[in-house]
Amino acid sequence: MTHVKGLIGGVAFLSPRTQGSFYRVEWRYGKDLKIASRDSGEEVRYPNGSYVGRLKLFPNNTLRIDHLQKKDSNTYWVYMEDSAGREHPESIQLQVYDAVPKPTVEHILDKSTSESCKVTLNCFVELEDVTYEWLPPRRVIANAGSELSLSFNPSVEIYTCVASNPVSSNSSRLIHRHPCSWEAELPDATASTKNSVLVSLGCLLLLLTLP
Ligand SMILES: *[C@@H]1O[C@H](CO)[C@@H](O)[C@H](O)[C@H]1NC(C)=O
Ligand SMILES: *[C@@H]1O[C@H](CO)[C@@H](O)[C@H](O)[C@H]1NC(C)=O
Ligand SMILES: *[C@@H]1O[C@H](CO)[C@@H](O)[C@H](O)[C@H]1NC(C)=O
Repeated sequence: MTHVKGLIGGVAFLSPRTQGSFYRVEWRYGKDLKIASRDSGEEVRYPNGSYVGRLKLFPNNTLRIDHLQKKDSNTYWVYMEDSAGREHPESIQLQVYDAVPKPTVEHILDKSTSESCKVTLNCFVELEDVTYEWLPPRRVIANAGSELSLSFNPSVEIYTCVASNPVSSNSSRLIHRHPCSWEAELPDATASTKNSVLVSLGCLLLLLTLP
């Protein structure tokens, strides 16, 4: 069975593997609910239902579903009938996923001294089917045998968590400051307010240094 993945609000193309021109084509949600059909030489019909205005059956028998909703997730059956009356049924599984929201990141301090910092970083979103990856700060620029090139700021480091599902991903950052202070990155709105404060501070400093 073919599997198709879609994003809520997005578009999915359900394409039968069997290609060719058929006398009659009918798409169903599950095995019973008819949602689109075409008889040879006639207009495509979309029986009324929750798909009103969201379906398009192309001449090649591909069905496009727009504005995907969670409840569109199901097995779809397409019945293609050739001119000899033989049916060619096929099923396609559609799974619709939510977009992954920005993950929540936090740190749990285990031990902090002036020489070392022992901490656990956590990352989560309230969604199923999500995989996580922490990206540590990159220090190595080039590693060529006896030569190792590094570049880093010893007082500030950024750890990034990426949360992904099969159709989307999102990320959040935790900022580490020497020796062991941790801060989640600010949401966008707060970040821009902070920037404007910094900008005005910059202006203020500029004014003060003028003779
Ligand atoms: C079904 O579709 C027809 C033609 O597009 C429309 O006139 C009718 O109002 C629809 N009925 C329902 C229940 O959606
Ligand atoms: C069928 O036609 C549609 C619209 O032209 C196209 O987007 C789709 O890729 C085609 N599918 C196949 C399997 O050729
Ligand atoms: C990440 O999630 C936020 C909502 O939590 C959303 O506004 C934003 O568009 C998402 N970013 C990406 C790249 O999907």
